[in-house]
This record gives sequence, structure tokens and C-alpha cells, in this order.
Amino acid sequence: MLEAVKVGMLGLGTVGSGTVNILSRNADEIARRAGRGIKISIASVRDIKKQRACDTSGFTLTVDHNKVIADPNVKIVLELIGGTGIARELVLKAIDNGKHIITANKALIALHGNEIFQRAQEKGVTVAFESAVAGGIPIIKAIREGLAGNSIQWLAGIINGTCNFILTEMRDKGRDFDDVLKEAQQLGYAEADPTFDIEGIDAAHKLTILASIAFGVPLQFEKIYTEGITEITSADVAYASELGYRIKSLGIAKRTANGLELRVHPTLIPHRRLIANVDGVMNAVLVKADALGPSLYYGAGAGAEPTGSAVVADLVDVVRALTSDPENRVPHLAFQPDALSNIPILSMDDVSTVYYLRIHVQDRSGVLADVTNIFANHNISIEAIIQKEPQTNIASVPIIILTHEVVEQNMNKAIAEIEKLEAVTNKIMRIRLETLT
Ligand code: HSE
Repeated sequence: MLEAVKVGMLGLGTVGSGTVNILSRNADEIARRAGRGIKISIASVRDIKKQRACDTSGFTLTVDHNKVIADPNVKIVLELIGGTGIARELVLKAIDNGKHIITANKALIALHGNEIFQRAQEKGVTVAFESAVAGGIPIIKAIREGLAGNSIQWLAGIINGTCNFILTEMRDKGRDFDDVLKEAQQLGYAEADPTFDIEGIDAAHKLTILASIAFGVPLQFEKIYTEGITEITSADVAYASELGYRIKSLGIAKRTANGLELRVHPTLIPHRRLIANVDGVMNAVLVKADALGPSLYYGAGAGAEPTGSAVVADLVDVVRALTSDPENRVPHLAFQPDALSNIPILSMDDVSTVYYLRIHVQDRSGVLADVTNIFANHNISIEAIIQKEPQTNIASVPIIILTHEVVEQNMNKAIAEIEKLEAVTNKIMRIRLETLT
């Protein structure tokens, strides 16, 4: 067998340690798969003395990132620092030095992937990022390679474990949002800045990547509509359940006649769908493709070894491709770089969905008629309506409405008018609904 390929690591935190442990435990099988061994030779860290969750005795530890990317023996650089500042600089420099790159950094790829891939193309190196989306689930490979014969119609994913954990705990145990978020942070699921999770930004990073490989468009993070889960109450979760739905934070990318819908928001899903039953910190992506039909990819979306599993899979791919012609490698965004399309990304105003609405009104006659009149004036038809019992010590009653499909801009106008009614006591809560068929 050929000599082992030397790998340099930037950062050695949770995912880095998981990767080192997998490489050591499964070394023989990995070498048999890759055709040669894979050896970490150097890793840069902030604090050399810090206790690590892996054995570091087999490689050099340094505080100097530049030492890793300049090391002439290193063929592949693993970027596991995170963020888009120093990580971007180091990745671009490493590419200039002729290194192949593997990264778990979804923000880096979503925001700077177009620049990074172009540089990699010029230098004839690979940039692999399977671990950036849905942790250990091989979703990039599934869409980019496994579904290469299909035209993808839409995909919908539970791609943020923290949001899914919070919504699951709220539903199953009636717990409060803040309380569950704290636990998610303690368990290490949440991003360094948890607003990235709960405001949908982390999911939008991942959706940017999925949309590009599904539809062959450049990465366009700035065009994704993003709405977090912070306004969802336990009451919404309970009402949705009464109507036969679960609330999930979904990343949705859909091809329509006019362009692409790219959106992250809380969504009602019929409770019998498999994806509605993906609970806790688990991730899942449902892909609807023309030839295969629907397929569902489920697994751990975060954690040391699940994410390390995807990093090692990328390592094996890169090692196998080391001797292949750069022109013939699997393209970064699934489609050949000169064949990306400029299908427009639709404004959220033009997206049509069904809506769940929670409206709090004073409990007196005529109010419901005023509300339904406004809907009628905007061509919004109602599918179901429930008026809940007044709660003691609260002056208003909640009305829960499910609409038929309606264009977002009509719904926005109707909501604005309803909120102006004297009898309406609170801001209206709206959650979009997808049947996912
Ligand atoms: N904070 C992310 C999540 C980690 O909760 O899914 C994995 O990207």
C-alpha cells in the first residue's frame, strides 16, 4: 500500500476530537476503503495545555495555524475552527498552497463558498463539506451523486437539532422555550451564539448549500427568507396537535414555474408524515425527485462522532481522488461550475402556503364576522376554525384558523387589517403549513 496521506487540522474541538477518535479506531478499515492510510500529522489549537477528548500523542500540536497550512507534508487541511473570519483567510491561503480542504463550517460555505470553490477550481484542489449539513447524514453525497439522474422538485429538512429539540420538549413535556434552550446549550447542541439556532440562521446556512446542490444555482444565503421559533408558544404546539399537525422548523427549497422558493420557518406538518416524527436533536431531509419520488434521510445532525463520521467520509473521498484529473472530480455544487443556472429566487411575498393563525379577540358578537369578512375581501378561504373557551383571568379568547392556500402578500394585508380591529387584542400568530406530498 502507498504511504499514508498526511492531514493537518485547524482546530481540535468537539468535531475534531471525534474525527481523530474515528480515524484511530477504524484505521484499518478506512485504509482498506481509501487505498492508503490517513494520518493526522499536525493540529493547531488555541491552548496546547487544554485537556482534549482524544489522544493527541501521535501528532504535533501548535498554536500557529499558519504552520499547518504551510506544512509541505500536509496534503489535506481540515478546517474545524468555525466562523467566517480567520477560517476564510486560512482556507483561501491553504488552497493557494495547493492543499485539499475539508470543512464542517456551514456559515463559511454558505457565505463564501462561491469564492472558495472558484479558487479551488483554479488550483485544482477539492473542497469537501459533507459535515456542514445535517452532521453525519450523507445528504450532500445523496443529492449530488445518488440523485444525479433526477430533477429535484423540492426538499424540506429538519436541519437544526437545537430547534427540533426545543419544539419536541415543548410538545412532549409542555416545557417553556427558555428552559429547553438552556438545556440544549448545556448539552452542547447549540451554536456558540444560540440566536443562530433559534432565529433560523444556522438552518439558512445549511439550506443555502442544499439548494445549490439540488438546483445547480450559486450559493445565495442573502436571498433566503428566515424566521425563527421564538414566537411559538406551548399553546400553538397544543392547538396544532389538536388539528392533527406537528410544528417543526423546516428549511424548504422548492422549484416553481416562476423561480425557487428558499425559506426557513416554523411549519405545521401532518402528524402522520414520517418527518413529523423526527424528534429531539435528530435531523432529517425529505427530498422529492422526479424519478425516485420522495426519499427521506434521517440521522444525527450534530455531535462529535456523527459529525466526525462525515468528515472522515470526505477524507476517504479526497484520498481516493488525489491522483484523479481535477477536471473530472465531482463538482463542488453538483453541477459543472460553468453550468450553474440563474433561476430567480422568489420573494417571500410571492410564495403560496396554507396558514395556521392564532387570533386573540374580545368575546363578543360580530367579531368573528368582521375577521372572516376581511379574509373574504382578500380572497382567503378558510379550511377550519376553532374558538377556544375563554381562559379565566384573560379577557380575550383565542380563535384558531386554518386557511386554504394563499399568496403571502394577500395574507400580510389581511393580517394588518385584522390587527387594526378594535376587538383584536394581540399580535396575530401565523405559522405556515406544508403537507409535504
Ligand atoms: N447548532 C447546530 C444544530 C449544530 O443545533 O443543529 C449542528 O450544525
